[in-house]
Amino acid sequence: MCGIFAYLNYNVNRERRYILQVLFNGLRRLEYRGYDSAGIAIDDSSSKCDSNSAPPPLVFRQEGNIESLVKSVYREVEETGVNLEESFGTHAGIAHTRWATHGEPAPRNSHPQTSGPGNEFLVVHNGVITNYEVLKETLLRHGFTFESETDTEVIPKLAKFVYDKANEAAGEIVSFSQVVLEVMRHLEGAYALIFKSLHYPNELIACKRGSPLLLGVKELTENKDSGSAFEDNKFLSKDGKPKELFLSSDANAVVEHTKKVLVIEDGEVVHLKDGGVSILKFENDMGEHRASLSRAFSVRRALSVLEMEVEQINKGHYEHYMQKEINEQPESLTTTMRGRLIRRGSNIPKSVLLGGLKDHLKTIRRSRRIVFIGCGTSYNAALAARPILEELSGVPVTMEIASDLLDREGPIYREDTAIFVSQSGETADTLLALQYALDNGALCVGITNTVGSAIARNTHCGVHINAGAEIGVASTKAYTSQIVVMVMLALAIGGDTISYQARREAIIDGLFDLPNKVREVLKLDQEMKDLAKQLIAEQSLLVFGRGYNYATALEGALKVKEVALMHSEGILAGEMKHGPLALVDENLPIVVVATRDACFSKQQSVIQQLHARKGRLIVMCSKGDAASVRPNEHCRVIEVPQVEDCLQPVINVVPLQLLAYHLTVLRGYNVDQPRNLAKSVTTQ
Ligand code: F6R
Repeated sequence: MCGIFAYLNYNVNRERRYILQVLFNGLRRLEYRGYDSAGIAIDDSSSKCDSNSAPPPLVFRQEGNIESLVKSVYREVEETGVNLEESFGTHAGIAHTRWATHGEPAPRNSHPQTSGPGNEFLVVHNGVITNYEVLKETLLRHGFTFESETDTEVIPKLAKFVYDKANEAAGEIVSFSQVVLEVMRHLEGAYALIFKSLHYPNELIACKRGSPLLLGVKELTENKDSGSAFEDNKFLSKDGKPKELFLSSDANAVVEHTKKVLVIEDGEVVHLKDGGVSILKFENDMGEHRASLSRAFSVRRALSVLEMEVEQINKGHYEHYMQKEINEQPESLTTTMRGRLIRRGSNIPKSVLLGGLKDHLKTIRRSRRIVFIGCGTSYNAALAARPILEELSGVPVTMEIASDLLDREGPIYREDTAIFVSQSGETADTLLALQYALDNGALCVGITNTVGSAIARNTHCGVHINAGAEIGVASTKAYTSQIVVMVMLALAIGGDTISYQARREAIIDGLFDLPNKVREVLKLDQEMKDLAKQLIAEQSLLVFGRGYNYATALEGALKVKEVALMHSEGILAGEMKHGPLALVDENLPIVVVATRDACFSKQQSVIQQLHARKGRLIVMCSKGDAASVRPNEHCRVIEVPQVEDCLQPVINVVPLQLLAYHLTVLRGYNVDQPRNLAKSVTTQ
């Protein structure tokens, strides 16, 4: 949902060409967050200015993806004679890749948004300003004119308004951070912002409330990237040493430069100036939209070290991130389970250790109910884990789609445990539902893939899924890791009751073996490609599942619709006779998930009923069952390895992920950047 990025080189010469490359690469890393338009701002030639003022920054904005921006920037640079070899000792550049919320994708709606001619203030923004109409009316009354339909444009204009007023009143130049603090006081909504200004050359300000933002620090004299502890605030001082500073919506765009980062918190205003970094914050900022300027105070924070490798964000030998992420599931699952499954001596029961939850397990067990809350794929993962959690914990488990819970203001009680599932940890609907559950006094547990994300920080406790960076917009490896974490959660909550010991041990053995079984099911790649060739021209695909695999049906269908742009619906097989059966004819392809578990015989009867209506069936069954499930020789069968019932959704989703992937490639669509979508949905 939009990516913002900035690069500031301090006391080290960098040519304009190099600065552009860093900005473009930053955007490429963030492109999965939005890809309908993009833009950058860099400095114009210092030789153009008279001694008192710097020339206005150069702004480039382009509809389309990053590569369209890159081409248009180089074309414009050539046409206007901007010198790419010009070197800057200190320079601050900003960049943006957009997923449109207000206003169609077009250069005027792209960022940086500007205060007006002269580019006195420039802003890149991720999020939504909910009170922009009121602010716009006020600014219009003060003579400002607007060129875009964005909510963002009010921000640089408000900055200019504040700057002009303050200078008029005080008769002296106010600092950049004072301007931004005052602007921030008037903004409502969710945002991460980076400001650049003609009046404060070589400075940048970043601030946020609700949307993610981090700062990366690279000291060029000493290499301290290798994990040593940092002295509190050492990097913040203006020590004159050459350094490079990066601001980014996420770690992907920073890790190739440095691993030393600071996760910026809500309400903080981070000022990069003269090689130093200072942070101001409003008192009691959480949840308060209009903070008071007088209550801003200075904070000291320590850097942390990113636990991420550059290889994780490269495609390696794969053509697409989605393909890579599907194929790396044996490894991502291994990482998810690492250190969490305990296999002791022969007489001691196997167990699960989830460090982030150990102090809260008693409270969870005593909850009146457990409520899973999430969106999209994360919701589906929770749905897959629901039966085992009910079985092992004995606590009622209910499911909530985050936006629906908020729409209904559904009941959440102090005695509830609310579990928030989110790959990004930043999804706006899930975050708002979290705030709602916190307000209602529930114990809030986070399950996320993003260390330091808002959900990880704002829940009482939680578990990281450790699946590694997921860059393909369609979630794949995060889904399977989420299921595994929730199965481990069920084991941990279930405790050590004797009656369930054999069941628990079988699941733990199954978890140990799961990466191998996923390796096995990945061998169906060519088979799924062949199936995709058969389905390439279809309009629609139904997927029937039940029990543990109702989630598989929903998730398989979601993958097909979101990347292959083919209508697809996951259907609870038990509901077939209550409506969906009317759709069945000899043309509509239907996948029926009928692997071995307690629902197997019911699914066999579903197959018979579909067959009786001449349904065009593709049956997914356990290895060795092909003959018993295939109603006729025209029916296609996908045989998958059989595992413990609660782990079967991990196996069963893989062929459907592969099918969606191949369908997309064969249909000629962009796998990693599906139309109209973006990863991390940070707007409501
Ligand atoms: C689909 C997909 C989305 C996300 C949803 C929630 O492939 O990725 O449905 O699952 O937007 O995102 P997170 O998990 O980041 O909260």
